[in-house]
Amino acid sequence: MRTFLIAGNWKMNAGPTDAAKLAKEMVAKWEGKTFKSEALLCPPFISIPAVQAAFKGTAFQTGAQNVSNQDNGAYTGEISTSMLKDAGCTYAIIGHSERREYFVENDELIAQKTKKTIDDGLKAILCVGELLEERKSGKQEEVVKKQVNAVLNHLGKDVSDQFVIAYEPVWAIGTGETASPEQAQEMHKFIRSLVENSWGKASADKVRILYGGSMKPDNAKELLSMPDVDGGLIGGASLKADSYSEILDTAESI
Ligand code: 13P
Repeated sequence: MRTFLIAGNWKMNAGPTDAAKLAKEMVAKWEGKTFKSEALLCPPFISIPAVQAAFKGTAFQTGAQNVSNQDNGAYTGEISTSMLKDAGCTYAIIGHSERREYFVENDELIAQKTKKTIDDGLKAILCVGELLEERKSGKQEEVVKKQVNAVLNHLGKDVSDQFVIAYEPVWAIGTGETASPEQAQEMHKFIRSLVENSWGKASADKVRILYGGSMKPDNAKELLSMPDVDGGLIGGASLKADSYSEILDTAESI
């Protein structure tokens, strides 16, 4: 039985002041209540301490949206795994499609970042997903297989306890368009089969596969009810305490 992971990716939104306010609103929504799911919010780097402070003593976790593949030293503008751990992060999102597209991150760099994150004791959320043209031409599995296998091959060993995959079809990110529950299930099952090929069935059954791409309170139930959908990586709807909490509540009800 896999635990749902309801992860919010705030992208380049919410500086320390707004982030603290939003985090406090989320905590207030759950005051006096517990949840079985894991609740994770990933603010911009500069807002991590403010969010971490607001989450102190609660079950909410803080994560990062990116991380360096290097230890430390002369890498201007980068943030290391040890800094994230020091700041209280438990997860790092890696290889988001926006980083692949706008910051030219390739499979090799993404594989290095994933390995570094896991070796250094954090959990990695690896993002994969196809472009609209790729889906239209029926290449979605081929594209996702290449993205997933690049990382699995680089990791080498079974790290299923620290490894999460987020399937985010690029055509569904921020567009209001969502993969149908059937499309999501088909791809998630395929991704799990790729993990099984590398690490065997028991480990593949442990790895959580999140859906990302316009997940909202009104479509969360049908997506999260699919057998291989183990949570969400939520952009826009995680920027409001109401909608994020509603999605978390939906996960709790399944
Ligand atoms: P939206 O939920 O805004 O479509 O963003 C999804 C996403 O990119 C999460 O990482």
